[in-house]
Formats: sequence, structure tokens, C-alpha cells
Amino acid sequence: MKSILDNRPALAVEVNRVAEVAGYLWQKGWAERNGGNITVNITEHVDDVIRNLPAISEVKQIGAILPHLKGCYFYCKGTNMRMRDLARFPMENGSVIRILDDCASYVIIADAPVRPTSELPSHLSVHNYLIGKGSPYKASLHTHPIELIALTHGKKFLEKDVATNLLWSMIPETKAFCPRGLGIIPYQLPGSVEMAEATIQELADYDVVMWEKHGVFAVDCDIMQAFDQVDVLNKSAQIYISAKNMGFEPEGMSQEQMKEMTVAFNLPK
Ligand code: 13P
Ligand code: ZN
Repeated sequence: MKSILDNRPALAVEVNRVAEVAGYLWQKGWAERNGGNITVNITEHVDDVIRNLPAISEVKQIGAILPHLKGCYFYCKGTNMRMRDLARFPMENGSVIRILDDCASYVIIADAPVRPTSELPSHLSVHNYLIGKGSPYKASLHTHPIELIALTHGKKFLEKDVATNLLWSMIPETKAFCPRGLGIIPYQLPGSVEMAEATIQELADYDVVMWEKHGVFAVDCDIMQAFDQVDVLNKSAQIYISAKNMGFEPEGMSQEQMKEMTVAFNLPK
């Protein structure tokens, strides 16, 4: 079968990276059934042939007006599609969409008419925000990491930066590789425009935000880097829970040790 990836090595690398990450999400137990979604802004890989491809779906509404997305193209996981299937067949479990000139609607253009993720309002609002501020970030990831979600069932971890400081203090690398910490967004209906708006607000200060009792939303230059940020945070949550399971409150690195790290790694806060 013909694919939009044929003879486009740079685009194929991008999509294959999504497939690789989808496999990790399944292996980690973060992607039950259709859980989680990924979108990547692939506009830089789009040539005139792609620009002239006809729509293979009717025009669909995004639910928001996103002025910076005019003429942009995105690879999107399909709604109800499984990460474990996407890992092997990314173009059968996801599709490429084109944002139309009204900045409020889109069409699917390749390979198959797979309807994008139900979290599209959040993903596209975030991409619109990132472009607007001139960010190099191109990828966004929503996933259901077990231990991080478990933390959000405890009220104290929902207070600003309580989870961030706890997770940073479990192992030095977490602050080094997730230097902006973990933002918290109070529970909202999955797929809602309200959740999209809250997500953008929180991304002003964090690269990874927690949707209370649901999952995380992470952004970075590519999907592997977004995954890595979530992975280091969840590792810290696992260390915290392991210590609790051994019957004690983990000591955590001291404030002095954290400060030393911040200076040595030239970290922002
Ligand atoms: P989709 O299958 O629509 O991507 O939904 C998965 C999910 O995790 C919703 O929050
Ligand atoms: Zn979800």
C-alpha cells in the first residue's frame, strides 16, 4: 500500500519515533486499551505534493479557533486505537491531518481516514500555544503512568510544587532531566475544551502537567524527549512508593543537595 512516508525519510524518522515510544508506553503498562495519545507537528516535512493531496475525510471542527495552526500538518494517534498496535503500524493506527484556513477545522489527508484522538482539542490548543510563543517543541504526549496518577489521589500532592519537590528529591537526575517540574491541573472531563485551556495555562511554567486522576500531558522537541521527561518523573514516584512500601518515609535529597544540583546542571529554578 502507498504511504505518505514513502520517499520522505525525514518524515518517516519522525513517525517511526512515535511508533518506538508507543511500544515503550505499552511495555510500561501506561497504555491500557486505547489509553494515551500522541500528536506531532510535521509541517516542516511537508512538500508541495503533500500540500496538494486531497482530503480523505469530511471537514471536522476542532472546537476552538487556533490562529497559529493555519496550514499546519499533524500526525495524530487515532481515537480508540491501541499504542501496542501503533508501535507496529503507525499509519494504520494514526493519520495525518491538515488544518484549514479558518483555523477552526481540519481534514484527514493520509494514509487512511483514521479519526484523530478524542484529546485533539488539548493537543492542538497546545501546538497553537507553542507556535505562538516561538517554541521549538513539536511533540505532545498524553499517557497514563501508574505511579504518577496514584500520587494525584492524595490531596497534599495536588498543592503547587509539592509533587515536583518530592519527585526531584528522590534521585538527582529527575531535576536534571525534568527541570521545570510537574504542573497540576484539577480534574476535568477528558477531551473537554476546559481541560485544553487549563493545560495551556499550566504549560507556561511546566513541560509536564498532570491531569488529576487521569494522566500526564508532556511537550518537548520530539516525542522521545517528551517521553523521557515523563519517564524520569514516574521513576521518582516509583522510588517514593517503594520506600513507603518498606515501611518508612523516604528521606529525599536535602535542600542543599538540590541547590548544588541546580547550580552544577545550570537548571532554571
Ligand atoms: P483516544 O483513544 O481518543 O486517544 O483516548 C485515549 C485517552 O487516553 C483519553 O484521555
Ligand atoms: Zn487519557
